[in-house]
Amino acid sequence: MKGDTVVSAKGLVKRFGDVTAVDGIDLDIREGEIFGFLGPNGAGKTTTIRMLTMMAPATSGTVEIQGRTVSGLSDPVKERIGIVQQHIALDRDVTVRENIRYHAILHRIPAKEAGRRMEELVGMMGLEPYLDRLVVNLSGGWKRRVAIVCALVHDPSILFLDEPTAGLDTQSRHMLWDLICRLNSDGRTIFITTHYMDEAEELCDRTAIIDHGRTVCIGTPAELMDSVGRWTVEYRDSGTKVCRYFPDWDGAIRFRDSLPAGPGVAIRATSLEDVFLEMTGRDVQATEEVRFRI
Ligand SMILES: Nc1ncnc2c1ncn2[C@@H]1O[C@H](COP(=O)(O)OP(=O)(O)O)[C@@H](O)[C@H]1O
Ligand SMILES: [Mg+2]
Repeated sequence: MKGDTVVSAKGLVKRFGDVTAVDGIDLDIREGEIFGFLGPNGAGKTTTIRMLTMMAPATSGTVEIQGRTVSGLSDPVKERIGIVQQHIALDRDVTVRENIRYHAILHRIPAKEAGRRMEELVGMMGLEPYLDRLVVNLSGGWKRRVAIVCALVHDPSILFLDEPTAGLDTQSRHMLWDLICRLNSDGRTIFITTHYMDEAEELCDRTAIIDHGRTVCIGTPAELMDSVGRWTVEYRDSGTKVCRYFPDWDGAIRFRDSLPAGPGVAIRATSLEDVFLEMTGRDVQATEEVRFRI
């Protein structure tokens, strides 16, 4: 059942010398949900996921998994979680099968049970034709699937995925989205970081938007979009793109009709990209300053 908190972080901070990568994050991840951790590059996503998964100690703050405060890599609760890192940690020079076996051995899974899990997961991921290929020869999307199988071989109830679709082509991204939904459909909790707004919108039950190591807002994608205004009127003012948000369609229409007619005037549904822009004043890719809220 979606509901009980399975991962809880309080006041998480991580400093690297003078750099504060994570600046006091509180999170409650509920059982069975897909929780999105959304933010631009450098926001602190990887650092947070590393602290949540005990791969790196926090400078301050606490993490609880299934009600237990976790202490470090030796904590037995580690067996309840699976991790797919942003920079995939596979042995490139051996086969897919050997990589999966290695993970099963790390988790001390008896050979018979490991064989059964491998068969099931490899079937689900469509990896059968690749089992005896060297990892080095696989494309990014297939490597990502192998990393997911390795992370699931001990049957964790919580799966952490750090930017699983970064750098993949559109088709591979959509295939991975389908797989993530299937992995979630049997009740597994999924925590996913991404800098793709559409990914969070499509996949996640709830999303936290983070920027500069802090939480900007948390809610369902619909709640976040409603908090800004469900409808966006987009237009150009002296050549600059401007967005204005409205809770209702009629208000958006009235505003649009009050604008001088011209190209670039549009009404559309508000997106998480707009939420980010509205909450931080910056485009998510942080490439350009965009004026808003006139
Ligand atoms: N080992 C490190 N040493 C110093 N600074 C780091 C280290 N790891 C991350 N940072 C810095 O912390 C910030 C957050 O990084 P990161 O968590 O990787 O962000 P994201 O995953 O959201 O792109 C960045 O400014 C990054 O340069
Ligand atoms: Mg990262």
